[in-house]
Amino acid sequence: MKIAIVGTGYVGLVTGTCFAEIGVNVICVDTNGEKIEALKQGVIPIYENGLEEMVNRNAKAGRLQFTTSLESCLDEVDVIFSAVGTPPDEDGSADLSYVLEVARTIGRNMTKYVLVVTKSTVPVGTAGKVRATIQAELDKRGVRIEFDVASNPEFLKEGNAVADFMSPDRVVVGVESERAKQLMSKLYKPFLLNNFRVIFMDIPSAEMTKYAANSMLATRISFMNDIANLCELVGADVNMVRSGIGSDTRIGRKFLYPGIGYGGSCFPKDVKALIKTAEQNGYRMRVLQAVEEVNEKQKSVLFEKLQRHFSGDLQDKTIALWGLAFKPETDDMREAPSLILINKLLNAGCKVRVYDPAAMTECRRRIGDSVCYATDMYDAALDADALMLVTEWKEFRLPSWAVIKKAMRTPVLLDGRNIYEKKEIEELGFTYHCIGK
Ligand code: UDX
Repeated sequence: MKIAIVGTGYVGLVTGTCFAEIGVNVICVDTNGEKIEALKQGVIPIYENGLEEMVNRNAKAGRLQFTTSLESCLDEVDVIFSAVGTPPDEDGSADLSYVLEVARTIGRNMTKYVLVVTKSTVPVGTAGKVRATIQAELDKRGVRIEFDVASNPEFLKEGNAVADFMSPDRVVVGVESERAKQLMSKLYKPFLLNNFRVIFMDIPSAEMTKYAANSMLATRISFMNDIANLCELVGADVNMVRSGIGSDTRIGRKFLYPGIGYGGSCFPKDVKALIKTAEQNGYRMRVLQAVEEVNEKQKSVLFEKLQRHFSGDLQDKTIALWGLAFKPETDDMREAPSLILINKLLNAGCKVRVYDPAAMTECRRRIGDSVCYATDMYDAALDADALMLVTEWKEFRLPSWAVIKKAMRTPVLLDGRNIYEKKEIEELGFTYHCIGK
């Protein structure tokens, strides 16, 4: 079996590499020539556990190739996965121009049957548009070639992408022909050894499943952030409430952690896009509108606590930030709450010292030298009036508090992810603020 993956972003590169790993011949395609050249040299554009080694191993074995030309591989492949970006438009709906450009290229150049699978997160109805676009190009050429479209949304998490792909909870596939179903079954069969399920359904349901899953997870987070804020007002402890409700198997323990709001490339974009899809269909997603509203507000919660601590006067205060990425194990800062926080601190007249184990270069690329880049977490705390824990990287869990206390001007700790024990930190002489207690 030979397949092409179009788009070498997160989803595309991980998908291509993992299929190569199980023995499929894979050609990864991207219009960005520099990226393809770098990949050919074994340099991968993203930070992801275990990926570089896997890319190089499979490239060396000849199962993983890279090209800028989709046209040139259409004769050889049975399946094309489209994993190009769908950035949000100004109004929140997903921009499909890349997805449809791929479809046009396929329609203009295909010479034999191919199954075109959309892996990007796309609104309900997109596979239909892909089909129509390919057919329109075939009609222009005056040729009749059979093809199928399918939807196969990706559920991998950044930082754990390879493991998620190799042992998924489930794989969702939307198809409309038996031939497409057979091809997809064959491709995913090797993963069946891991006892997971391929769930076949119609295409609109598969497209909807991805948005519903991400929106449900985002809803849990905003719900817990709301509960955390209320816990503070009534004197309850959200950590206890979390374990109390999480032990109900109907609710479950995961994704109930309050914090400083969700970020990343998926939740904010997908929640917005689903609200938009509903609007276009004359329906209002009341719950999701509230989910978004709570999340926006939550990104300011840590800053407001800092303001209250210093009675509103933050002018010339030095603030240390631990963590910049939207979550640990990634250098991704898309929609990262740290960006909002830094902006607020700078506007309030603070000096900001930042440290992140992976996202320093990305932060510099985004905001330049408006903050001071520390060499490590201890250096970040130097002369700081307060230290804010923004991303819960493992290395921040057990620092040497004595060294930090000595380095800081005043020992104030604001824990945006509730990773420390209030009692322990206070006993060390710090003033401690966290979320929801
Ligand atoms: C998410 C989905 O989990 C994945 O299935 C989908 O394919 C893409 O979107 P990702 O964006 O990589 O993955 O990160 P995830 O680990 O889900 O975290 C998203 C955000 O939620 C982060 O900002 C994280 O800090 C926040 N979060 C997560 C919480 O605030 N509380 C939680 O309990 C869990």
